[in-house]
Amino acid sequence: MTPSLSRERCPRHVAIIMDGNGRWASLRGLPRSAGHKAGVDALRRAVKAAADFGIEFLTIYSFSSENWSRPEAEISFLLDLLRRFVRQDVAELHGAGVKIRIIGSRENLEPAMIALLDDAERLTRENSKLNLVVAFNYGSRQEISRAVSAIVAKAQAGEISAGEISPDLISQHLDTAGLPDPDLLIRTGAEQRISNFLLWQSAYTEFVFVKEFWPDFTAEIFARALEEYRQRDRRFGGIEAQTA
Ligand code: IPE
Ligand code: IPE
Ligand code: MG
Repeated sequence: MTPSLSRERCPRHVAIIMDGNGRWASLRGLPRSAGHKAGVDALRRAVKAAADFGIEFLTIYSFSSENWSRPEAEISFLLDLLRRFVRQDVAELHGAGVKIRIIGSRENLEPAMIALLDDAERLTRENSKLNLVVAFNYGSRQEISRAVSAIVAKAQAGEISAGEISPDLISQHLDTAGLPDPDLLIRTGAEQRISNFLLWQSAYTEFVFVKEFWPDFTAEIFARALEEYRQRDRRFGGIEAQTA
């Protein structure tokens, strides 16, 4: 059961770096793939908990641009898991009112994979219960480079001038255009780094690092991170948590 939680100061947007699948498996003498499989169950728990907590946006890091450097067998296993997750879970997520958006580069992905991702977005487009943003083939530096290319192309076409380039304009050209910045970022698996995730968007995000590996993630651990978030004093460069 999802622990009940006061809605007060609930983050609107939570981003999660789901890390530690491989180590979880190694500790048990299992292949890394077993950790990834158990990680999908943890993801299902996290999505359900986020909806129960009343979180509006949940962004999950499922595969980074740098994860292509892993052994081929692990990459195919991960891609297969994603395909299966989309095929098996999208209908249920749709039924629960979840709106899916996939961020990251679609370049160099197989056409069948692109079609699957597009279908998931199209099917759930009108939903409004929880926004599930899946970062797949995502790297923030690559995302920023793509945004810069798009802006330069517009400038060359005479649609915008150099003087019009602003933080807002850059945000509008990122994959996350239209999404609020994450209020809270949770990383499981004990590492304390950002690993090329939402670099621009996390300028004022609160970070909570959790020692548990991702397959052990539960609604209780999620609730604990939200509680820690509640204790934080977000100043955004100002001097008080709440300025009138
Ligand atoms: C996170 O777990 C899943 C992905 C990066 C796809 P890892 O596979 O990174 O597991 P560890 O960090 O090696 O334990
Ligand atoms: C970050 O985890 C990427 C995902 C969770 C998808 P990694 O395991 O790839 O990050 P590093 O290599 O430890 O920084
Ligand atoms: Mg890792």
